[in-house]
Amino acid sequence: MTKTFIRGRLLSFLRRPDAIDDAASYRYEEDGGLLVEDGRIAAVGPYAQVRAAAPEDAEEIDHRPHLILPGLIDTHLHFPQMQVIGSYAANLLEWLNTYTFPEECRFVESAHAARIARHFYDEMIRHGTTTAVAYCSVHKASADAYFAEALARGMCMVGGKVMMDRNAPQGLLDTPQMGYDETRAVIAEWHGKGRNHVAITPRFAITSTPAQMEMAAALAREFPDLHIQTHLSENHDEIRFTSELYPDAIDYTDVYAKYGLLGHKSLFGHCIHLSDREADAMSEAGAVAVHCPTSNLFLGSGLFPLKNLSRREKPVRIAVATDIGGGTSYSMVKTMDEAYKIQQLLGERLNPFDSFYHMTLGNAEALSLADRIGTLEVGTDADFVVLDAAATPAMALKMEVVRSLTDELFLLQTMGDDRAVRETYVAGRPMKAGL
Ligand code: GUN
Ligand code: ZN
Repeated sequence: MTKTFIRGRLLSFLRRPDAIDDAASYRYEEDGGLLVEDGRIAAVGPYAQVRAAAPEDAEEIDHRPHLILPGLIDTHLHFPQMQVIGSYAANLLEWLNTYTFPEECRFVESAHAARIARHFYDEMIRHGTTTAVAYCSVHKASADAYFAEALARGMCMVGGKVMMDRNAPQGLLDTPQMGYDETRAVIAEWHGKGRNHVAITPRFAITSTPAQMEMAAALAREFPDLHIQTHLSENHDEIRFTSELYPDAIDYTDVYAKYGLLGHKSLFGHCIHLSDREADAMSEAGAVAVHCPTSNLFLGSGLFPLKNLSRREKPVRIAVATDIGGGTSYSMVKTMDEAYKIQQLLGERLNPFDSFYHMTLGNAEALSLADRIGTLEVGTDADFVVLDAAATPAMALKMEVVRSLTDELFLLQTMGDDRAVRETYVAGRPMKAGL
């Protein structure tokens, strides 16, 4: 049995903070100890207490003065879009047609998919992301590469072979039957293998015919525990086109509802322009709106009404994500920096505790995986990150005047990126040092 004893400043959340001074929403241990046994957290608490009870042969790693948090979670990104990042386009549909679809065609080649998968996981680890939820491409080979690499690294990953059968280049189309068969094959080969979770992934209403949506509905009925992921209400032209393609639906959300895709394991990327009726429907179904701030700003898609959705009478569950390659950074702290600025433009506040809750426990709850990840609770998987708020000369200078945990977190969020991630532990193993 491998045993490691980790020392540092431990911060983890118990629930979403109601306000910046809601100290009961998190647990903070100034001199904390974390005992890891066989990839799980075996004990956690004050250093002296946990050390006294720990086996003597446990190797000790001292990360003081750095912060240790649960591994960061990214709930929406596209693994075949690593070479799409930073493509110069006016809006979503132009960006998809000009850059993204042609690039994704390359994933028909397994060797290319395997190479990009290696880079993908390197970037996740470099940025402190221990779990991500990815769209692969339409090709089964891309999902195979994605899950094989997750398995090799022991990471808890969610992903899906994209289903799309219209409004894209020929090399990127399946058929309703192929989408169904290949998704079933991916589930059979990868779901539950290691820490892999397969998601049913119709790309969005524009690229799926009603016949394909029927097949996605059939998969959702056959595999009710699987995540479902798609895009919803990102851009006005997208919304207009969708209503032309699905004239019988009341609105965009209703397209997915009609096919049984609106449930508590459903993750809807963007959700920027929802009507009250749509937000009510999302809330009643327990579906999750996934906020992707860097992408929304980069593509000019709009300002996500975080507070209006999450604090309304019928609240909508919220997750946060990078949306690589519409998104511009792999960093979840950078992502929350941009989320903060979006809320500033809307006249709302997003406090640093709320931000760090969202990157960790909040996203784990949104994925219904909080019993395994997003916390430092005993018995959960030992995925955690070591963050250094003085990682760069400019950050170190600012740290000289930082006096509180609140301000330290806010500095990490505002100036931090992969350089602030000193180490990333996956199932108790340090992964970043070896990159
Ligand atoms: N809508 C459908 N596909 C995509 C995609 O790849 N990125 C974004 N941002 N929106 C989408
Ligand atoms: Zn997306």
